[in-house]
Amino acid sequence: METRNLRRRRQEYGLLEANQDVEPSKHKPPPSMPILPTIIFLMSMFIFIIVVLGYATTEKTAINDLISRRLMENIDVDNIKNYLRELTKEPHVAGTDENRRVAEAIARIWTENGLEGVHFNSYNVLLNYPVWEKPNTLKIHKGFETFYQTNGTEPMILPDEQGDPFAGIQWLAWSPPGQVTGDIVFCNEARDSDFQTLKELEINVTGKIALIRYGTGFRGDKVKRAQHEGATAVLLYSDPAEVAAEGIDEDKVYPHTAWMPHEGVQRGSIIHGMFGDPLTPVLPSKPGIYRSRDIEQAKRNGILPSIPALPISYTTAFEIMKRMNGPLAPKDWQGGLKLDYRLGHGLHNDAKVTLEVHSIYETKTINNVLGYIKGAEEPDRFVILGNHYDAWVYGSLDPNSGTAILTEIANSFTKTMKETSWRPARTIFFAAWDAEEYSLIGSTEFVEEYLQMLQQRAVTYINMDCIHDNKTLTLATTPSLHDVVIQAAKRIPNPSKEEQQQGRPTLYDTWYHYYPDEKYKHRPWMKIPSGNSDQAPFQNFAGIPVIDFAFKNNSPIDYPLYHSMYETPFLNEHLVDWDNFAIHLATGRLWIELARSFSESEILPINHLALAEAIIDDYIPPVQQAVNSIKPFDQSAEAAIVQLNDQVHHVQQMSLTFKETILEFTAKFSKAKNRFERRSINDRIMAVDRCFINPVGMLGAPQSRHVLFSVSDKDSYSSRVMAAVFDTDAKISARQISIVHYSILCATNAVKEFF
Ligand SMILES: *[C@@H]1O[C@H](CO)[C@@H](O)[C@H](O)[C@H]1NC(C)=O
Ligand SMILES: *[C@@H]1O[C@H](CO)[C@@H](O)[C@H](O)[C@H]1NC(C)=O
Ligand SMILES: *[C@@H]1O[C@H](CO)[C@@H](O)[C@H](O)[C@H]1NC(C)=O
Repeated sequence: METRNLRRRRQEYGLLEANQDVEPSKHKPPPSMPILPTIIFLMSMFIFIIVVLGYATTEKTAINDLISRRLMENIDVDNIKNYLRELTKEPHVAGTDENRRVAEAIARIWTENGLEGVHFNSYNVLLNYPVWEKPNTLKIHKGFETFYQTNGTEPMILPDEQGDPFAGIQWLAWSPPGQVTGDIVFCNEARDSDFQTLKELEINVTGKIALIRYGTGFRGDKVKRAQHEGATAVLLYSDPAEVAAEGIDEDKVYPHTAWMPHEGVQRGSIIHGMFGDPLTPVLPSKPGIYRSRDIEQAKRNGILPSIPALPISYTTAFEIMKRMNGPLAPKDWQGGLKLDYRLGHGLHNDAKVTLEVHSIYETKTINNVLGYIKGAEEPDRFVILGNHYDAWVYGSLDPNSGTAILTEIANSFTKTMKETSWRPARTIFFAAWDAEEYSLIGSTEFVEEYLQMLQQRAVTYINMDCIHDNKTLTLATTPSLHDVVIQAAKRIPNPSKEEQQQGRPTLYDTWYHYYPDEKYKHRPWMKIPSGNSDQAPFQNFAGIPVIDFAFKNNSPIDYPLYHSMYETPFLNEHLVDWDNFAIHLATGRLWIELARSFSESEILPINHLALAEAIIDDYIPPVQQAVNSIKPFDQSAEAAIVQLNDQVHHVQQMSLTFKETILEFTAKFSKAKNRFERRSINDRIMAVDRCFINPVGMLGAPQSRHVLFSVSDKDSYSSRVMAAVFDTDAKISARQISIVHYSILCATNAVKEFF
């Protein structure tokens, strides 16, 4: 019985003296007045029930508040610091012995801290490495006369933390090996529009080496486009405008500040349009699973690059650019180097650039680390918290700030459980993913293997990849989770003293202050989760609502040391979070509050009314606009437009029905009498999101299955609403609109009581 349980729990938590009576005691039926006793008795029973129910609710709230406080207070900043140091001792790229040692350390600490069922979940996947003894180099030369040459490594700056002999190797994962000599064309950020500009200016990229600025967008998509344009190789450089915005003098960059030093580069993956092991799309790459393609096929399919690519520092970019011929680049292509940016091609004095990339493809075992706290009431409902642990080098921000925090959260949960005998109502899973950096491989293989189980049992997946910077929360999620994340952020004290002094006492206040939503002014801006981290397979393949959050700066220029060898604990401790890890702490607190909201709420805090409204107000109008803007040029086009308008009309009507049905459904929540009725409601809430999965995938991308939310084919770092509706050759597709319609119909049926 609920109330008795609550009372027992209240006693256990020390909210109640052992023999203090919660039940009102003065409701004995009066002995006299023979006619009235029954009525009076019934009335008193009625009052009794009201009182007890009211009491139970406040009781529950009081316990939740108490647990929330304990969970937050039990996060120990010194533990986070120690874990971070332990996990970042060596560079630990996925598939290496060093990374296996990190996995073992995580498993050991999780077990020591009391997580249950800690084990490795392993897959055999294709990876790619540099040849560690043979760095990738670049030289500017004319025949045998060399004007400039790199040694392909970043110098160590803090020997205590950066002493590994191979840490400095500059490379891009998945680049094929190769030596290329040629002329340079500057392609700005290698967006479609940049190549369009080059065409208009009659600069031909075919047969040239593309020099590309990192800027914004996913690097794999940049390499793909350059290759498509006929480039023979790619050089990706970090412009000082993004990574050394206060200037490149020694005292303005690392280790004096968190700006990129002279020889620093951003490493990373240059895969395109694919998550998981490139050779086993959609299937988990366990031993014995058939590899449906090989490396050469993956190259032909445009997933793996077939031209060599190398990351270079702004110092090397300067050496190339100062020698470049050709017309001046457009004004908005000029960057932070103190010279005129030219388009090329060709260098002064007929010099050429030669780059040499050494790399190998290898099949390796990767290990996700999993552990859990079994739920007391609904052990088969999972709230999953995840972060990856593999890194390009030491990874003190990306990703091990997150791993250290996740590990300490686990600690705080088990510690709170010991102190109070409380246990979360639903199971909380902890996942440390492997090989995220290559293409979300560990999490994707896991979701592929456990798809059915996850779709039935996972309530939500909450991802925190890493802290980027220290100013404000940034958070991506779907409309149905807006309320719950806002409520959680409001409960977290502001980690920044400066922000507190500005009159912003909570995490929420700062977030809302820097990123108010332009359309919905009462709330902070939250984008749809994209392909940037491990939440992607949960949302896009399994249809599970996800949250992905981080801490960042309040400017577009963020996290200059990203994927460099200078991400070691000194950066966290002395440059980005020197106020006793206040940001690491606040991040942990928010993660805990989010987890607790999902594990403890009797009715799942997933608000589909917000989803229905977003569909009606935000997602369908652009489709209507796109249809309106089509100009009929003949009769068949006119007929197609009539049909499109018809489809838009139907999907609109369906959305309105969905909204009404959700309203009726929501009205039942407070009437649920017992755990079975609540369970039935929660099952239906969970079923709604699964309806937006199209099992065959969207537009020939079998992993991109979410009808509403998908990763943009043009930029894996961005998400698009209804990509399939827009991304077709016909510009807009009646059939795809109908698939959206069908998903909304499915979602409407999912919450109904009967057919
Ligand atoms: C490689 O070159 C950089 C830049 O010139 C230099 O700082 C570093 O010491 C060199 N490393 C080695 C191993 O020669
Ligand atoms: C670009 O250069 C390639 C190779 O030299 C050539 O085949 C192609 O026709 C050129 N394209 C244009 C538009 O000039
Ligand atoms: C926050 O980060 C900036 C660099 O982005 C740094 O200058 C500042 O000192 C940091 N503040 C704290 C409290 O860590």
